[in-house]
Amino acid sequence: MAINLNSLKISGKEVLPIIEGGKGIAVSSGKSSGAFAAAGAVGTFSGVNATRYDSAGNIIPVEYKGKTRREKHEELVAMGIDGGIQQAKIAHEMSKGNGPIHMNILWEMGGAQRILEGILDGAKGLIHGVTCGAGMPYRLAEIAAKYKVYYYPIVSSMRAFRALWKRSYSKAAELLGGVVYEDPWKAGGHNGLSNSEDPNEFQDPYPRVAELRKFMNEINLHNVPIIMAGGVWHINEWSNWLDNKEIGPIAFQFGTRPIVTKESEVPESWKKRLLHLKEGDVFLNRFSPTGFYSSAVNNNFIKELRQRNERQIKFSSIKNEEEGLTCEIKLGPRGRATYIRPDDKNKVDMWYEQGFTSTMKTPDDTLIFVTENKALEIKKDQIDCMGCLSACKFSNWMDHDEYTTGKKADPRSFCIQKTLQDIVHHGDVENNLMFSAHNAYRFSTDEFYKNGFIPTVKQLVERIAQGY
Ligand SMILES: Cc1cc2nc3c(=O)[nH]c(=O)nc-3n(C[C@H](O)[C@H](O)[C@H](O)COP(=O)(O)O)c2cc1C
Ligand code: SF4
Repeated sequence: MAINLNSLKISGKEVLPIIEGGKGIAVSSGKSSGAFAAAGAVGTFSGVNATRYDSAGNIIPVEYKGKTRREKHEELVAMGIDGGIQQAKIAHEMSKGNGPIHMNILWEMGGAQRILEGILDGAKGLIHGVTCGAGMPYRLAEIAAKYKVYYYPIVSSMRAFRALWKRSYSKAAELLGGVVYEDPWKAGGHNGLSNSEDPNEFQDPYPRVAELRKFMNEINLHNVPIIMAGGVWHINEWSNWLDNKEIGPIAFQFGTRPIVTKESEVPESWKKRLLHLKEGDVFLNRFSPTGFYSSAVNNNFIKELRQRNERQIKFSSIKNEEEGLTCEIKLGPRGRATYIRPDDKNKVDMWYEQGFTSTMKTPDDTLIFVTENKALEIKKDQIDCMGCLSACKFSNWMDHDEYTTGKKADPRSFCIQKTLQDIVHHGDVENNLMFSAHNAYRFSTDEFYKNGFIPTVKQLVERIAQGY
């Protein structure tokens, strides 16, 4: 069934209510976002460690000269600002200056506020809106007001938006361009599930968005669009959301479909993998060093993390009758006495036999069992940390105060910076984190993509606007 999509005013311009979801690292770029804007929709490039080019147009490899985490962090911030400005210029040129071009950042990325301000400073007039999620970006409104750009918080519940509004956004209401509702069960990348929400109990977005609209109406935001993100494939499946008072002005954000376009700069292997996914191939997990839930393809990378987390037992360095840690085993080259539950002894013997002979302590007083090589890799990644997050559970880096979370580094997690740089620049989609939304299997059943068809962004936007 074809649909009738009304245009909406977004970041000051009448456009189709279709928005490219921002995707780091370097997945949504100046090129892809410029193409979305040129097609009459809204483009969003990622301002998270954006790719930089030299004067000949070659990608500048990311290399750090600093020795300490803090020195590397400073380089990362400088490169992030430079890359973001470059991507904004590309987007501006591709869209012929028409916009709207949005930039996406993660509030929990290292140096987020400095990077955001640095890019907005260096790309004045080229960026019309900033979308920002992962965390509670209270200061977003103030920064948007300083640079006179629209802002778009990404939330997964009415309560999160209400808290942002009460504490800060009510002071800069006129620049609030829209509120992105990102479905925490369906969207790709990091997911905003709260501690009280069950990752296995999917909740229908309709009542949650209607609740958000009800609150927005109460505070006089009747005309501010809500942007539905996560799980939207064909808009004709959402026709009851259109021209509906309970929902109000609505636009739809697409994260996964834009990856499979000609303008998308991810390697071909990534596009191919997406085209052939099956239902259930995407796994909602909590391995990310940010501590957030996230959704990614269940490839070797995720399977290794799952197994690493399964090869885990409680331990104590002294006998502890109360906790049942009474069975002595000898660990490490020096045969250190360690106490575990008698029930776990068989598992430990089996893991040893399988070659998982190195143990690593976690912040929860457990041990995980990994191969010697994996232990070396984990340690190296922790040492190489360049402070890309505001707080990282994998390396215990923090971008302020004492520059440490004060907790033990957690070997059950991984360096997200390393793996996301690797997948986007080298294309190994089996051994890296491949963020993806749960709907991605629909590529293989949607006739638009028959015989491996990869559309241009313009073709995709036209198709989506028809409802498909
Ligand atoms: C590979 C990938 C990377 C993403 N990275 C980010 C990000 O850096 N920041 C963000 O706010 N959302 C990110 N997202 C979420 C998308 O912007 C979008 O909201 C979501 O994917 C929408 O769901 P859909 O994929 O079902 O269309 C990412 C999604 C994917 C698939
Ligand atoms: S260890 Fe953590 S903070 Fe450091 S670079 Fe990797 S993901 Fe970023």
